[in-house]
Amino acid sequence: MTKHQNSCQPTLAFVGGGQMASALISGLIRAGRDSETILVIEPMPAQRIRLEKDLRVQTASTADERLAGVDMVVWAVKPQVLQQALDDARSHLGAALHVSIAAGIPVQTLADWLGSQRVVRAMPNTAALVGAGVTGLVAAGGVSDADRRATEATLAAAGHYFWVDDDERLDAVTAVSGSGPAYVFHFLEAFQAAAERVGFDPGTARDLVLRTALGALEQAKLGDSFGLLRERVTSKRGTTEAALTVLDEKRTPEAVMAAVQAAYARAGELSRELSGRT
Ligand SMILES: NC(=O)c1ccc[n+]([C@@H]2O[C@H](COP(=O)([O-])OP(=O)(O)OC[C@H]3O[C@@H](n4cnc5c(N)ncnc54)[C@H](OP(=O)(O)O)[C@@H]3O)[C@@H](O)[C@H]2O)c1
Repeated sequence: MTKHQNSCQPTLAFVGGGQMASALISGLIRAGRDSETILVIEPMPAQRIRLEKDLRVQTASTADERLAGVDMVVWAVKPQVLQQALDDARSHLGAALHVSIAAGIPVQTLADWLGSQRVVRAMPNTAALVGAGVTGLVAAGGVSDADRRATEATLAAAGHYFWVDDDERLDAVTAVSGSGPAYVFHFLEAFQAAAERVGFDPGTARDLVLRTALGALEQAKLGDSFGLLRERVTSKRGTTEAALTVLDEKRTPEAVMAAVQAAYARAGELSRELSGRT
């Protein structure tokens, strides 16, 4: 008897068992989901062993008959290999709801490739790996209210989620929350370098910068506008004003504006490339 004949019929499948799939599955298991109900299709043996050992899910190297019975398939492979993964699995696909987290592939392209309108495209960000992500969601025409609730129940494992109306809005989500963690890391990196320049060792500089950022974010979470918070902490002719004057002179706000615009434009280009609509 093979391993999977001993296991129950899975109800949720992941195609691709990489870091994003693993993070979502860990979150779901922490929230009480029975790991035996999850099937992961993953070609890499080492990944499968890790998934079986650490998460105790069912695994397969390629799609098999278990896939036909699941309620939801989460596509968690790189965008460049999604179409191939889909073709490989096609003969085993049942009537499941499909949720793709592959960056950049428009929901209607996914629906065309799958031959189904029960498709959701999700755009998570890297903080999903620690359950603190922001995920934008867009639904194709065949997605019911119950499908939306099922998607939300799965994506809640990644953190906060919200629905948008179309792929164009998801390009904007990509430019803000999708790429956004890297903007924050970039600032923190520069901030740490500056802290080292005024004499702190790298460890202390990192700690000071991190605690400063976390503290400011805790304050910002209370709801006052970012501008008001900045004004309150900036006294005339003080140290903060001296620093902020330099940031303005160096045109930091304009640079951030241009950076987000560039990401937005690139998200649109990538969607067109990945869907073959150039
Ligand atoms: N990580 C992030 O922060 C992030 C943020 C937003 C969106 N996303 C999206 O999430 C998706 C997954 O990202 P990730 O970071 O988890 O990538 P990853 O760690 O590379 O995981 C992808 C996994 O899929 C496997 N795979 C490749 N071809 C396959 C096939 N035909 N059938 C089944 N599995 C296959 C890969 O195996 P091999 O290693 O053997 O290729 C790998 O284990 C991507 O589309 C990415 O755009 C990720």
